Amino acid sequence: MSANITVVDHPLIQHKLTLMREKGTSSAVFRQLLREISTLLTYEVLRDLPITTKKIETPLEPMDAPVLAGKKLAFVSILRAGNGLLDGMLDLVPSARVGYIGLYRDHKTLQPVEYYLKVPSELGERLVIAVDPMLATSNSASAAITRLKEVGAKNIKFVCLLAAPEGIEALSSAHPDVAIFTAAVDSHLNEKGYIIPGLGDAGDRMFGTK
Ligand code: URA
Repeated sequence: MSANITVVDHPLIQHKLTLMREKGTSSAVFRQLLREISTLLTYEVLRDLPITTKKIETPLEPMDAPVLAGKKLAFVSILRAGNGLLDGMLDLVPSARVGYIGLYRDHKTLQPVEYYLKVPSELGERLVIAVDPMLATSNSASAAITRLKEVGAKNIKFVCLLAAPEGIEALSSAHPDVAIFTAAVDSHLNEKGYIIPGLGDAGDRMFGTK
């Protein structure tokens, strides 16, 4: 399957991502870099937003000027690491609505179980951007997107910082309609499901947990 993936490899993003990968980078700097990269990613993700025009008056004359069309965007964070991408996205689109979805993996069934869901109203009329920094196995991203579709989302894009080829394949098989945006595609997953070379556990690095 040919995945619908865009690698946003702007030099600024690559440089900031390298700083994030380095194991000595502090949580504070890691969070700040993630915020900056997510703003830059969002700029690219929203490149084809529909626009309309409205009549305005400049100091010199009236004109039909472009403005965003349609309902406000919905950003949905896949807890907990997705939260690290939200602020940078909201810096760019402060009026976006925000949702959260939390899933954990049942140790017996290995299936994702939802423990939290709160999403904006009228999801089906909004562009929904689901975010999680690491697309590894894609188990949680696929399950989260399945749930977002169940509660009405029709137009979904997925944004991550780093993706593994295995995750891209799995997500695009499960949800071929969902365009994926990432800053980089790494080599592979290890036996524990970590992205190699990656940056470690994004949530732990962001929040200083271990
Ligand atoms: N989640 C992470 O935080 N890191 C990985 O490498 C894979 C999944």
